Amino acid sequence: MKIYRAHNYQDMSRKAANILSAQIIIKPDCVLGLATGSSPIGIYDQLVEWYKKDDLDFSRVKTVNLDEYVGIDEDNPQSYHYFMKQNLFSRVNIDMKNVHIPEGTNPDMEGECLSYERAIESIGGIDMQLLGLGPNGHIGFNEPGECFTRKTHIVDLAESTIEANKRFFEDASQVPRQAITMGIGTIMKAKKILMVVDGEKKAKVLKEALTGEVTPKVPASILQLHPDFTLVADDEALKYMNV
Ligand code: F6R
Repeated sequence: MKIYRAHNYQDMSRKAANILSAQIIIKPDCVLGLATGSSPIGIYDQLVEWYKKDDLDFSRVKTVNLDEYVGIDEDNPQSYHYFMKQNLFSRVNIDMKNVHIPEGTNPDMEGECLSYERAIESIGGIDMQLLGLGPNGHIGFNEPGECFTRKTHIVDLAESTIEANKRFFEDASQVPRQAITMGIGTIMKAKKILMVVDGEKKAKVLKEALTGEVTPKVPASILQLHPDFTLVADDEALKYMNV
């Protein structure tokens, strides 16, 4: 496990963007696993800036997103499809044929889960997976539970996740109750994993995940077992860790 300390959100975003851009430069047709939420927005802004300066080329990059809400259309501003277009895809020269995000409105959800797993395999698996950390220790939408999930599946969102994500909606009642997410197994198969965490509110769960017992009750704790895991976190998030 490699841990890089950042002073603040902006510094964290820049350091993580450097790692992602190195991946793109080393392997221009790499498969990037991407995340949504507040954590990666600064990274995407930084990557866009470098793209505009002609320092990065996304033309051969392939992407797979971690998750999507169930029942939300991709043109809905609350969908993760929309988020990705707004924050990254419409701002760089990525070929939309190379973009993969689970389809939250597919009437055949089981089929969608299977075909998402197949799509990831068919493009050669994930070279680098970007992750944020949920306030309850989730990664993707793998909520705390009794076992580690293997593959892409449908989940019922935890109350704490609904509470945390209501900031993107009018109120908590508007937050979808279900999502489609890569499984823990899907995430762990990525060749490299890069997690970004900022803010004091995640300090306790971050310490628990990275120094506590490996348990599905704290899904991110599985990352302790990944052979190439990098964390970039700010001072506040690292408050309880001796690094
Ligand atoms: C997002 C995702 C989630 C978030 C996590 C942290 O695609 O899968 O696991 O990474 O909930 O969210 P933020 O970054 O908004 O604190």
